[in-house]
Amino acid sequence: MQDCFNRNIEYLRVSLTAKCNLCCVYCMPENGCVVTKETLTLDEFWRLIKLICKTGIKKIRLTGGEPLLYPKLLDLIRRIKTSTQIEEIALTTNGILLENKIEMLKQAGLDSINLSLDCLDKDLFFKITRGGNINSVLAGIDKACTSGIKLKINSVILKDINETEIIPLVNFAQKNNILLRFIELMPINAAQNYQGVDEVIILDKLTQFFGKAELILENNSPAHYYNFADLKVPVGFISAMSHKFCAKCNRIRLTSVGFLKPCLHDNRGLDLKSLLKKGTSDEELMQKIKKTIYTKPQCHHLNDVSFAQKETQSMSLIGG
Ligand code: GTP
Ligand code: 5AD
Ligand code: SF4
Repeated sequence: MQDCFNRNIEYLRVSLTAKCNLCCVYCMPENGCVVTKETLTLDEFWRLIKLICKTGIKKIRLTGGEPLLYPKLLDLIRRIKTSTQIEEIALTTNGILLENKIEMLKQAGLDSINLSLDCLDKDLFFKITRGGNINSVLAGIDKACTSGIKLKINSVILKDINETEIIPLVNFAQKNNILLRFIELMPINAAQNYQGVDEVIILDKLTQFFGKAELILENNSPAHYYNFADLKVPVGFISAMSHKFCAKCNRIRLTSVGFLKPCLHDNRGLDLKSLLKKGTSDEELMQKIKKTIYTKPQCHHLNDVSFAQKETQSMSLIGG
């Protein structure tokens, strides 16, 4: 359906759990995220997903925290695949548990994976993720590549921390024929302790190494891509700070505690979990879901520091 700014909302992101088996410095506080509210049960997720899909959703992305920690993941993917009209089921993961799950995920009906990887250096990975082992992720990438599933890599670059990894990451993407996107850091919660690196700086570096950049025509994804003269794969950017993409936003989010969040960076939304607890009927839920989608905020205000500080939910709860 369309929202009040005539945007077609057809992409649902579902955060299945706020838990994560990593604890990235810019995403979580040192002691992890404390989630006080109950996570939805599989049946609650399923009932809400089915209803939200009826508003005209074509693509679902399962996120977290780390969605591979959600015990009923395969069951949920199978249900979405067999009982809805969804055209693409995607997953965003840190890849730690991917190696042994990829075949089952594919068989269940998963179409594509976006994997978060901010560096290739083993020690730096350990530092950024507070204890993660990069070898598990690399094994997951290998398996994903041979399985033939669509795979993209997302990298967040932090000033003075992993800027030196920009070129190695691009070389890695080229070697493995994977689409890589650099994500600009959004200054919420733990990320406020770090400084992101703007697209223009990364682009400049890439141009020095890989020659002239040419913008590829954009679609309605938050990412835009460039081809470089001396590079076989395009490189993408998700630049929420320097290239705000809200005007073509097509997404809504359901958090793991059952909150329908029409904008990543706006605390308004619909507490569906409470409505389920009250025994609300499907018809009434549907009316409220439609109203929440229709009134989706026009844009984020992250460039205004005081607004960014108001975002109380961590990225691992919202699902990125
Ligand atoms: P595709 O479906 O493959 O286009 O992926 P995606 O970019 O929508 O999903 P992914 O989970 O890979 O998102 C990567 C990052 O982009 C997220 O972690 C967020 O940081 C950012 N992002 C995704 N959607 C939005 C959005 O609606 N608003 C903002 N500000 N950032 C977003
Ligand atoms: N800004 C941008 N991206 C972030 N992620 C987590 N926190 C932030 C932030 N503050 C990214 C992770 C991962 C995805 C799920 O969200 O790096 O790629
Ligand atoms: Fe986990 Fe992703 Fe947050 Fe890292 S960025 S702690 S992998 S949810």
